[in-house]
Amino acid sequence: MKMIFKEVRVLDPESGRNEVLDVVVEGERIKEIGRNLRREEGKVIEGQGKWLVPGLIDVHVHLREPGFEYKETFVTGSRSGAMGGFTTMAYMPNTNPVIDHPEIIRALVEKGKTEGIINLHPVGSMTLSQQGETLGDYGAMKKAGVVALSEDGKSVLDSYVMKQALLQAKKEDLPVLVHCEDPSLVAGGAMNEGEKSRALGIKGIPNSAEDVITARDLILSHETGARVHLCHMSTKGSVEILREAKAKNPLVSGEVSPHHLTLTEAVIDGIDTNTKMNPPLRREEDRRELIRGLQEGVIDIIATDHAPHSLEDKKQSYEKAPFGIVGLETALSIGLTELVHTGILSPLDFFEKLTINPATLLGISRGKLQAGEIADLTLIDPEISCEIHPENFQSKSQNTPFRGRTVKGKAILTMVSGNIVMENNRLKEENK
Ligand code: DOR
Ligand code: ZN
Ligand code: ZN
Repeated sequence: MKMIFKEVRVLDPESGRNEVLDVVVEGERIKEIGRNLRREEGKVIEGQGKWLVPGLIDVHVHLREPGFEYKETFVTGSRSGAMGGFTTMAYMPNTNPVIDHPEIIRALVEKGKTEGIINLHPVGSMTLSQQGETLGDYGAMKKAGVVALSEDGKSVLDSYVMKQALLQAKKEDLPVLVHCEDPSLVAGGAMNEGEKSRALGIKGIPNSAEDVITARDLILSHETGARVHLCHMSTKGSVEILREAKAKNPLVSGEVSPHHLTLTEAVIDGIDTNTKMNPPLRREEDRRELIRGLQEGVIDIIATDHAPHSLEDKKQSYEKAPFGIVGLETALSIGLTELVHTGILSPLDFFEKLTINPATLLGISRGKLQAGEIADLTLIDPEISCEIHPENFQSKSQNTPFRGRTVKGKAILTMVSGNIVMENNRLKEENK
């Protein structure tokens, strides 16, 4: 089966290519990229005015299997990803049971292949049952299919256990995705600590709750030689600490979510729990520093932390509702609208954070739009305007703070290994 994208703007951050070309896909690979290529037999996709980028990669999603299938599943989560232009994602182990044993990992990898419509990779728990005490068998977990390790949802609090975990992770050459949070400083808080939390009478979470563990984990990376990646950075301090750490340690990296880049605590009214996530939305000066970190390349990756919760879960009081928002179906559009169309990031710099940088972190051979590579591709209409309607999400959950927003730019076709899985807002189930 052949396909040709005609006169499309090819954006390949890895090579720096940014020009209007034809792209031929044959079977599961990109066969040829060039000018005026022949329209061969097969499908022709008119690319005028469109951007073709390597399939987007999200290093941080929650698919909720096993145990919380009422929030999301591989089927609904991967469809949600395909709608948003993602072709690959890594899912976190804070499930029930926790993803901590080779048998569970093997079963999930199989399930992901049969039920997922995009590439799904498990992240293994650092400690058994996420109890922060006993390390899993990282070698066996890697053989079974994990691409990284994480205790996401919390930190491994015992610094000795953390250090042993990093030493073992280094041995297996697995990156460690750290959620940095000191619960003794969070102390039951539900939003950023400051004037706003005091005005609303909601307990606050200080920046220090993130910053102290961030500093510890980067120090331990330097000491052990393990690859440490900061999840969902939210504070000015964490950017400054990462900037300083990077100056002497190339093994550290960081990610930021679309919501922390575009929203602040100002949107919180104390009632709508779709603004509640962990870490919380911070102040404008934090947001500005996150943007600066992204522009400088201190922050390497944009990741959604797609965290679906049911309507019932989120219907509770601001204090009681669970932390987390969905992100797969809004990330690209929000990013294009707020970061690219505003000139904060060039298209190549923006897509680098969603393609080659995530692929490099996870050690997967993806993220390049080049002849011979696997044809995981995302076609984007950068000019199309649309409104965000959570009712139309493919995700099982609708917990987004972006409801009703008008955005400019979206994915109009998602291709995985040469198969179109989404085209013009419709999933192509027959390709499964
Ligand atoms: O907001 C969040 N939701 N932060 C986390 O760390 C966990 C996640 C979840 O699993 O819902
Ligand atoms: Zn987290
Ligand atoms: Zn998470």
